Amino acid sequence: MERGVELYSGKAKSMHLTEDPGRLIMEFRDDTSAFDGEKIEQLDRKGMVNNLFNAFIMTKLENAGVNTHFDKLLSRTESIVRNLDMIPVECVVRNIATGSLCKRLGIEDGLNLEPPTFEFFLKDDARHDPMINDYHIESFGWATRDEVALMKRNTFQVNEILGAMFADAGMILVDFKLEFGRYDGNLVLGDEFTPDGCRVWDTETRKKLDKDRFRHGLGGVIEAYEEVALRLGVDLEIAAIQ
Ligand code: ADP
Ligand code: TMP
Ligand code: ASP
Repeated sequence: MERGVELYSGKAKSMHLTEDPGRLIMEFRDDTSAFDGEKIEQLDRKGMVNNLFNAFIMTKLENAGVNTHFDKLLSRTESIVRNLDMIPVECVVRNIATGSLCKRLGIEDGLNLEPPTFEFFLKDDARHDPMINDYHIESFGWATRDEVALMKRNTFQVNEILGAMFADAGMILVDFKLEFGRYDGNLVLGDEFTPDGCRVWDTETRKKLDKDRFRHGLGGVIEAYEEVALRLGVDLEIAAIQ
């Protein structure tokens, strides 16, 4: 499959048209951003690690019955995905309180959340991704009531599947963000699942193994991503990309 015109270039990925209108090439770049694009750096190997990481996770989710946009790996930094009509909303599940939840509500950092909590954010960097609720999504026509219900159900399903996988590998899936879109009228998981969009801590030491290392200048960002990948069994040396 050949790369056509660049459809969109975001903070970390570029989406390219292909000869098939139903397929896009999703390219993971080395660009790393935080604080809604205020802090941007290039981190060597990040595009490759995140592309292979995402392919591994999306395949696991697909096998567990989640409808995802992932089709196949195209190269070490590119994947072929279905071309979705994206819903401009971010779905966040939290198993442990940290990050913006603690800032907003004064909740103690590290508190176990039982049951896990759920938040919607509007995908709008200029407005710093404000938190929104189900009614906003429906009233402003971002998604239907059925889609809202499905986004929640699927996000919790992903939490169940991946929470267990990370636990088996000695890690805690603290929180994560998902984005969904539509394909042929069906809700489909899009975008990515990588350490850029989730928080992962070592179970024993609670060492941060995700983008918080970049956000807070802790160093060893890609080394941490690679450690998570290796513990989960992602093949970072994959040679067989046809
Ligand atoms: P951002 O836009 O947040 O800076 P990225 O750099 O990750 O994000 O760019 C990827 C963009 O492509 C995002 O806007 C995302 O919503 C969109 N996207 C992800 N998956 C698909 C898909 N399957 N079809 C169409 N657009 C997608
Ligand atoms: P937060 O604590 O900053 O709200 O983030 C919660 C989780 O969602 C965390 O794993 C990071 C992820 N996230 C993104 O990847 N992009 C975003 O724009 C937001 C708001 C959160
Ligand atoms: N994803 C957002 C950004 O890249 C927010 C964050 O990760 O801190 O700026």
